[in-house]
Amino acid sequence: MTTYLTTGCAGFIGTTFVHYMLSRYTDIRIINLDALTYAGNLENLKDLEDDPRHIFVHGNICDKELVAKLIADYDPDYIINFAAESHVDRSIANPEIFVTTNVMGTVNLLQRAKEAWYDAGQKTWKSGKKYVQVSTDEVYGALGAEGFFTETTPINPHSPYSSSKASADHFVKAFHDTYGMPVNITRCSNNYGHFQFPEKLIPLMINNAKNHKQLPVYGDGMQIRDWLYVEDHCKAIDMVATAGRVGEVYNIGGHNERPNIFIVKTIIHQLSERLHDPEINEGLIKHVEDRLGHDRRYGIDPSKIKADLGWYPETTFEVGIVKTIDWYLDNQEWMERVTSGEYQKYYAEMYKNR
Ligand SMILES: NC(=O)c1ccc[n+]([C@@H]2O[C@H](COP(=O)([O-])OP(=O)(O)OC[C@H]3O[C@@H](n4cnc5c(N)ncnc54)[C@H](O)[C@@H]3O)[C@@H](O)[C@H]2O)c1
Repeated sequence: MTTYLTTGCAGFIGTTFVHYMLSRYTDIRIINLDALTYAGNLENLKDLEDDPRHIFVHGNICDKELVAKLIADYDPDYIINFAAESHVDRSIANPEIFVTTNVMGTVNLLQRAKEAWYDAGQKTWKSGKKYVQVSTDEVYGALGAEGFFTETTPINPHSPYSSSKASADHFVKAFHDTYGMPVNITRCSNNYGHFQFPEKLIPLMINNAKNHKQLPVYGDGMQIRDWLYVEDHCKAIDMVATAGRVGEVYNIGGHNERPNIFIVKTIIHQLSERLHDPEINEGLIKHVEDRLGHDRRYGIDPSKIKADLGWYPETTFEVGIVKTIDWYLDNQEWMERVTSGEYQKYYAEMYKNR
């Protein structure tokens, strides 16, 4: 039995990771530590309520005693850290919580894992253990019209969010370089897919357009992001955890670069066609003042993960965006419960007697 201690897996990507792993492997268990901030939605994992391979723990990655106890009780083979404050706009408004969770939380996980896995006298690590940090391409800063981020591109973050993720990455590297800790860092491009909180571009635009609300587009909308279907990201994390060379960074992306305005127009046309609703049209687009320090272009070179691990993205943007729109249309109750805040009551109701 392989044991994973994952963090932040009531969020968008983590939810998909739990489903992805449990649908592929029988002999695993996932201890899912999540603080259930506004971004954590345990309803996303409702189908696993009675699955003994998924153990949910409500708690904070900054909690020293709790993290130490989980490592002692469950003896995980892998610790995979998804937990983060993840929204750039929120980081511009309130940077401090980003330092607390993204930096201090990561250091707490590293330090507790080191205490459990490292024999300081012998300077050896328990075999078969690894820490994986789920990071982002945003740590590299912005690109011009040419070129791609490789793993050796200098770290040059601009937003408080990307700065906190970059800082966490440096600590992960420091634990490897200083103590020899077995680690990997993954740096993925923008994800899209089901279960994404509707403050992020794609679900926000789907929800607004469906309800004939304005579609706020930052600046000229020509900011380019490299979009990856969330399951392809999860597949990469699984491969890096089990087969990634210790100490290495892996960039993850599928060469699906699209300007934001293209994404918004695609959503408008797809929705209008599917719902036979001519009121969903480009007249809903409203250009608003650009985000402060907005990076112009991100683009990943995924050659290393392809060559080392044989990873490749399975879902093209054209297929993935249609799947995603269909999911949000088929799960309107999910969207209503998230936008009304009802989803936050689920934990209290479900776990009151556990
Ligand atoms: N979304 C993307 O496009 C993208 C791309 C690349 C990398 N990433 C990284 O992937 C990870 C997951 O991103 P996401 O989009 O799923 O984020 P998300 O905001 O949807 O989910 C974050 C989860 O972390 C939990 N959390 C927050 N603070 C916590 C704390 N202190 N202790 C325990 N749990 C806490 C939240 O409750 C939530 O369930 C993040 O580390 C993010 O930086 C995201």
